[in-house]
Amino acid sequence: MNSSRNAALLKHNQPVPRYTSYPTAPNFEKVFAEDTVSGWMRDITPDEPVSLYFHVPFCKKMCWYCGCNTKATAQYAAVEDYLVYLRKEVDLVTQKHQGRLNVAHIHFGGGSPSYIRPDGFDALMDHIRARFNLLSDAEVAIELDPRETSEAKVAAYAKAGVTRASLGVQDFNRTVQQAINRVQPLHLVYEAVETLRQYGIDAISFDLLYGLPNQTVENVKQSVSLAAALNPDRIALFGYAHVPWMKKHMRLIDEESLPGALLRLEQFEAARQILCEKGYQEIGLDHFVRPDDQMAIAHIAGRLQRNFQGYTTDGASTLIGFGPSAISSYADGYSQNTPDLRSYTKRILENKLPVARGLAPTADDRLRRGIISSLMCYGAVDLSDIVAEYDCGQPDFAIELGKLKELEQDGLVLVDGSRITVNKNAPQACRLVAAAFDTYLTPKKQQHAQIA
Ligand SMILES: C[S@@+](CC[C@H](N)C(=O)[O-])C[C@H]1O[C@@H](n2cnc3c(N)ncnc32)[C@H](O)[C@@H]1O
Ligand code: SF4
Repeated sequence: MNSSRNAALLKHNQPVPRYTSYPTAPNFEKVFAEDTVSGWMRDITPDEPVSLYFHVPFCKKMCWYCGCNTKATAQYAAVEDYLVYLRKEVDLVTQKHQGRLNVAHIHFGGGSPSYIRPDGFDALMDHIRARFNLLSDAEVAIELDPRETSEAKVAAYAKAGVTRASLGVQDFNRTVQQAINRVQPLHLVYEAVETLRQYGIDAISFDLLYGLPNQTVENVKQSVSLAAALNPDRIALFGYAHVPWMKKHMRLIDEESLPGALLRLEQFEAARQILCEKGYQEIGLDHFVRPDDQMAIAHIAGRLQRNFQGYTTDGASTLIGFGPSAISSYADGYSQNTPDLRSYTKRILENKLPVARGLAPTADDRLRRGIISSLMCYGAVDLSDIVAEYDCGQPDFAIELGKLKELEQDGLVLVDGSRITVNKNAPQACRLVAAAFDTYLTPKKQQHAQIA
């Protein structure tokens, strides 16, 4: 079974998006009016809780595999300066409203939010609390680099109301760590987890990677077992996306040491088996969660969502992103801040929203977004049910279903009337099936990583 599934995935291996939104960010319009976004902000219903995302585009040192929007700097002054602009952006956004908006969810991502020193984090959180009404049961999540997580920082997070920490673990093997310029001994991760738990931050997620240089099935199994032994509630197991034409520092990785597509599939499968044996539940493409974790509960209840950070339990219909490259999602559309730090600071100094791109989805986009979201979160969709939800005519999806024929022959998907179900043992195929419904996808664009 595994060999035929692997053969099918390799046959269909191609670069398609990971669909954290639909339409995906590369298809946003390149010039987008700040006024349009201001209007969307003003239209937020005052009582409706919103979510906030804060991007911190700095790291002390560059990991060579990194695909994030970040910059390596040893100068903390750059981070301090940045925090001033970030607070200013919060002011620019909140000035659009008379009262304070309710906030149910905050996520600090990057880059490395854990680069921010305790006093800087305190000041940022105080500012957020002054400008928004943070609900008492709000989830406040932060991405942490275990190499720079200190007790003083964790104490500041606890005091500020952080409830969830997501640790960049990647891999525990030293040879792998050396090949990615991220030497991070096991004890650092262990100590970070212990300190977080001591301070009451016990919702803990780990990021792990497969497909890294020097990784083998055996050492991936060891890393995953060690990770599970620390008992995080969630583990995100991402396939390394090697895109050196987009991220020049990835050229520092020796391509000879990268596992090929078949080995990557075997690594994922081995890791998946261990995590399932250890009691984790598989969610979507790349998440493994404890059965009592909120994500497992949301999954069963049909409330699982996908946003720009990946899978989420966050049900808010408005997400406001702050910082360069941050994406916002409003009832009427998406907008993205300029990814360039200089342009970002210039715009903030001019008292302008740093919006660079955006898109107002059409009715057809919204219908397809519903289909793609269901496929990415649940590996299944009933086209009749979705069509009934949207006022968009009665499309027969003949072209899309035609594209699925070969995937079906190869056992990756089952089409039964209007119901499409992706093979549970090939979650990677969700991206392929979703891509069949993506009217923006053009084969020539090499912006995405392969599915295997
Ligand atoms: C912003 S980092 C996490 C926080 C912190 N900067 C750290 O690394 O510890 C986000 C995560 O994205 C994942 N990631 C980064 N580059 C990637 C790539 N090229 N392919 C797949 N996942 C990647 C890593 O697992 C990483 O932990
Ligand atoms: S993986 Fe995290 S720490 Fe490493 S460069 Fe990327 S954002 Fe920075």
